[in-house]
Amino acid sequence: MSTIFTELNKDIEEILIDETELCALVERVASDVTAYYTEHPVKKKLLVVGILKGSIQFMSDIIRHLDMPLEIEFIKVSSYGNSTKSSGNIVFKLGIDDEVLKDADVLIIEDILDSGRTLSNVIEYFKTKSVASVKLCTLLDKPERHAVKVHIDFCGQVVPDKFVVGYGLDFAEKYRNLPYIGVLRPELYE
Ligand code: IMP
Ligand code: MG
Repeated sequence: MSTIFTELNKDIEEILIDETELCALVERVASDVTAYYTEHPVKKKLLVVGILKGSIQFMSDIIRHLDMPLEIEFIKVSSYGNSTKSSGNIVFKLGIDDEVLKDADVLIIEDILDSGRTLSNVIEYFKTKSVASVKLCTLLDKPERHAVKVHIDFCGQVVPDKFVVGYGLDFAEKYRNLPYIGVLRPELYE
């Protein structure tokens, strides 16, 4: 357990990915991303788009390992409220100007692919814009819960069907500041 998070650690049943493992994961994913865009050079610009708020820690770590020109943007979509299950209703709360998207190679950064509803909507959104390409990079993937098919281009780690928090992921807006990915004690939301 991380020593500086004594209060929050009490709510964590098990650490799935610790800080050291997250560092290695970020380096591996960033090197896959770098290899891809080296092989498929972008014509206008690489636009790295973080989905707020869950992607913040992963996004900031990963871009520091991408040794290439890029721009960053954020979008905000909402589907969960304070529950641990996706409602299926996705609302765009923050988008990106069409001029910024025009002819950009978009790399979406997301925290987790769960049912897939959020990401399939986000990918459809980008496909309606005049972008050059759309690729998806997710920190985590929970295959047991997929309800909609979504292709992940760059994946950090597959996780079991448990509610996880930390390193950007929240439960009711809390725990995003934890430096590791942990399983939240089910008694806190059941
Ligand atoms: P989906 O639309 O069901 O794929 O849900 C995607 C969103 O739900 C993610 O961006 C997360 O914000 C949230 N989410 C899904 N599973 C978890 C989890 O285990 N912990 C925290 N947030 C989650
Ligand atoms: Mg969330």
